[in-house]
Amino acid sequence: MSLLAMNNVTTAYGKAVVLQNVSLKAEEGEISALLGSNGSGKTTVIKTVLGLVRPKEGTIEFDGKQIQGMPPYQVNEIGISVAPEGRKIFPEMTVVENLRMGCFHEERKEVIQERMEEIFGLFPRLKERRNQLGGTLSGGEQGMLSLGRALMGMPRLMILDEPSLGLQPNLVERMFEMIQRINQEWGTTILLAEQNARKTLEIANSGYVVQKGRIIAQGTAAEIAENEVVKKAYLKADKIIR
Ligand SMILES: Nc1ncnc2c1ncn2[C@@H]1O[C@H](COP(=O)(O)OP(=O)(O)OP(=O)(O)O)[C@@H](O)[C@H]1O
Ligand SMILES: [Mg+2]
Repeated sequence: MSLLAMNNVTTAYGKAVVLQNVSLKAEEGEISALLGSNGSGKTTVIKTVLGLVRPKEGTIEFDGKQIQGMPPYQVNEIGISVAPEGRKIFPEMTVVENLRMGCFHEERKEVIQERMEEIFGLFPRLKERRNQLGGTLSGGEQGMLSLGRALMGMPRLMILDEPSLGLQPNLVERMFEMIQRINQEWGTTILLAEQNARKTLEIANSGYVVQKGRIIAQGTAAEIAENEVVKKAYLKADKIIR
């Protein structure tokens, strides 16, 4: 059984249908990629899973239970967290306060402390800057904070919406290394939405390509990398690879 399964999901904003008949899965312990260019529908897939928009049709299963229509706080409670598009850290809050927001359901101080130490183990840089305001961190540090905040809830599924966007090339490299490390060392299942197809396919087990709200290709990472449409549209020129 897959940890997450979207089955024939159609999502619309008002009358504008944005996702059509989307089916995808995230297998437990794996990194699943969701590739697609600007405006293809990646964030909408994520918002639909998170309960931020309600699908018009179709079902979403998490750990075998249907979750479509569940409110976002509850989706978070059952073990799905997100590092959203644009990172969206809280600029006026410190690193520690930002991390605390990642597990707002948890009230036991010792549990919060323990988790924070684990995150600091993964990102020593955040520990050094623990009392610094989020808005004063560098882009790369904000990326770590966004990942760290998503991990604070000890999610079974972590969804990442374009974590490499806007980072300098050397930081992009490190971001993908961190994602792989989280998956391997923590065993966290990851759904990774990206435009950087080459880097993503290097660390993903399997993936999907979304175009104009439809899944146009799917398979193992190796299969997708060899897919002619994907090669042409996403792996050809350096301009797309970033
Ligand atoms: N709130 C909204 N209301 C109406 N249309 C929307 C809304 N949000 C997104 N869309 C449209 O839905 C389509 C898919 O957008 P979405 O943000 O899911 O794409 P994306 O793949 O995440 O793109 P990007 O890589 O630029 O983040 C786009 O055509 C977009 O204009
Ligand atoms: Mg997006």
